[in-house]
Amino acid sequence: MLFLTIDQGTTSTRALVIDSNENTLGLGQQAIVQHYPNNGWVEHDPEQIWQSTLDSCQLAIASAVDDVSQLAALAITNQRETVVLWDRQTGKPVYNAIVWQDRRTDDYCDALKAQGHESYIQSTTGLLLDPYFSASKINWLLDNIEGARERAEAGELAVGTIDCFLVWRLTNGQSHITDATNASRTSLFDIHQQCWDEKLLDIFNIPEAILPTVVDNSGALAVCDQQHFGLPLAIKAMIGDQQSALIGQGCVETGLAKSTFGTGSFLMLNTGDVAAISEHRMLTTVAFRLSGQLSFAIEGSLFCAGSTMDWLRDKLQIIDHIGDIEPLVKKRSDSRGVYLVPAFTGLGAPYWQPKVNAALVGMTLDSDRADVVTAALQSVVYQTQELLMLMAEEGVAPQLLAVDGGMVANSWMCQFLSDMLAIPVVRPRQLEATALGAARLAMLACGVIEALPVGGRGEARSFDATMSDSQRQHNLQGWQRALIAARSMDP
Ligand code: G3P
Repeated sequence: MLFLTIDQGTTSTRALVIDSNENTLGLGQQAIVQHYPNNGWVEHDPEQIWQSTLDSCQLAIASAVDDVSQLAALAITNQRETVVLWDRQTGKPVYNAIVWQDRRTDDYCDALKAQGHESYIQSTTGLLLDPYFSASKINWLLDNIEGARERAEAGELAVGTIDCFLVWRLTNGQSHITDATNASRTSLFDIHQQCWDEKLLDIFNIPEAILPTVVDNSGALAVCDQQHFGLPLAIKAMIGDQQSALIGQGCVETGLAKSTFGTGSFLMLNTGDVAAISEHRMLTTVAFRLSGQLSFAIEGSLFCAGSTMDWLRDKLQIIDHIGDIEPLVKKRSDSRGVYLVPAFTGLGAPYWQPKVNAALVGMTLDSDRADVVTAALQSVVYQTQELLMLMAEEGVAPQLLAVDGGMVANSWMCQFLSDMLAIPVVRPRQLEATALGAARLAMLACGVIEALPVGGRGEARSFDATMSDSQRQHNLQGWQRALIAARSMDP
């Protein structure tokens, strides 16, 4: 059986045709244009997201199958929290998608915090009060797009994260659904009762009528209109991209952890059926929901990982290609006292300071581009180390970390990560863990597998720690000083 899988990410849309043995037979990919209309604002054009999805699917199908009837089902995974508000009649968005990295609602979130709402939000949704999550973005759309609130209240508009918007378009408006993992990132969803929460809708002033129905991650979820792929393809999986990577990495049992280094970097630890509330301001989130049965995870979110590397290339222009990074950093054993705190879109876990900006510290007249590039790469590792340490302090210390995402093709980084974490880091041969997770959910729905596979599969490369404790401590102290400097500049 063949499964068409859409991975709609922050910087690109990808579509893969994956067979029952988990081989990728076809691939289509398109870049997503980032719009920065104001300081701290990040938007996508929903029409480009839609068109890139159709085009990537066509490319993947054309390279993999002669006949579309060979496709058994469609699986969708997506960048989370990003929201679209659209007209139910025409399907046309009323504004651009507001992206998860967008910080336009930071003052609004501060005001809600001052009113004392954060503890209710944390106990109900597992999240914190931060512009990252969807609710404040939806509130902004309703208050700032002319006529939106009145039209929403009259039932003319629908809202959703990207999974939901794509399903609406694929079903020609027949299905307005989202899955439990995407819902769990909106800040409007009670993760314990699995329903939209009235008090939260009231706090964020959002009419329930615009929200989708919440469904499981796997099953007969919806059916695509025939016009898109030439057959009524069944949608059998929907899941947020980080949760999908958790499944793709086989971290489906308590205590297993993965970190995906994409645009951002997201460390997730499976906590089974326990929705553990973090004492260190990490997030509690739905890992997956199968036939109503819930699994939870603790998540540490870093907002800028791959996007920091893109910044080196596109804005600083000190590298031509991402592939230049590894040869450059290999020449250095460290960054010679240079540290980059990549708070380009604020700081996520555990600080949640949306107004902090990035800082480059420790430069001398002898500092060069290799130092800056090394510091940029190391910054992602230091932040991951800090989150893992906090998880350990809460009583769950993973014995190894499974890694995936574009950045981990860099073996120097994987070795440095293992050295700093002091545990083995395991990189699978198949780096497309995100798409694989969604495909596995569709396979489950089609009866190809009876349960989600546990642990890594096939060839993997393990990186083992070799750094001395004293070197590790030295590195961390430098990072901590840089972090304190950046945080102290919170306006
Ligand atoms: O929470 C945001 C996350 O889902 C974005 O993922 O892969 O686009 O960095 P990615």
